[in-house]
Amino acid sequence: MSPLLVTLPLVESAKPDILTQIYKLVQTCPELGFTYKESLTAHVRENTNRGTLWAAMRGSEVVGVATLGSRRLYPHLARHGEVVVKHEYRRQRIATALYTAQVVQVILEGRREVEDTIITSLSPWMHGPTDCGDGFLPSLKYTHYGTQPKRTTAFRDVALWGKATTELDSYLSRLPENLETLQVVRTEKVDATWEKNMKVYGRNAPELVGEFETLRERVLSIASLVECKKKKGLLK
Ligand SMILES: CC(C)(COP(=O)(O)OP(=O)(O)OC[C@H]1O[C@@H](n2cnc3c(N)ncnc32)[C@H](O)[C@@H]1OP(=O)(O)O)[C@@H](O)C(=O)NCCC(=O)NCCS
Repeated sequence: MSPLLVTLPLVESAKPDILTQIYKLVQTCPELGFTYKESLTAHVRENTNRGTLWAAMRGSEVVGVATLGSRRLYPHLARHGEVVVKHEYRRQRIATALYTAQVVQVILEGRREVEDTIITSLSPWMHGPTDCGDGFLPSLKYTHYGTQPKRTTAFRDVALWGKATTELDSYLSRLPENLETLQVVRTEKVDATWEKNMKVYGRNAPELVGEFETLRERVLSIASLVECKKKKGLLK
């Protein structure tokens, strides 16, 4: 079997076929809600600025896709978005690798927490077709923080799960053996968020500054950095 590559596709260099495969995989996954092609393109475009959509590849086939949902709330926090793995490739820790890529990326931004919101009654993470049981991909050991006070417009409860990015080793120890590449990106934007976080940690939790510097060195030695040529007019 060809090795697994977790890549950050770029609009300017990804083969059109790769983008089509990404759209098709996300849009035809019955467990996910409808996703506009334009919003996926926007995620890929954002990869030049900071990693936002990853494609897991075996050879030329896209076997999984993951997006980072939101980073807007606070600089120290990021939220996972959609994650999907092709049916015939499930249970090979491809989702684990896609989660790890997100964690590695946000460590470069100095973020200390990743979260996910789960609509308990709908989500396959919890009870549905993936049969994951009572947990959020149990082997990744996220913590169930509780149920949000605000329900969805359809009055469904939303559960909040999270984990500290400083627990990097617990992700790394579960990576699939045939994972060859884990791409992340380092840009001015990524470094600016890092600086912002380090200032806050320096004031409020100085021990985190050293811890993050060590983490950053480690992830830079593990991950491969994507080269971004952000030329005017190059991005659509
Ligand atoms: C959820 C999903 C992304 C998992 O992908 P995957 O590559 O099979 O996941 P992994 O192999 O990395 O599994 C990680 C852990 O999750 C748990 N898990 C995943 N699928 C499971 C299943 N069918 N039954 C029980 N546990 C499961 C296990 O704890 C597993 O750890 P292990 O390999 O050490 O046993 C995949 O099933 C999928 O695409 N589902 C449809 C889309 C979806 O529901 N996405 C989530 C909402 S955004």
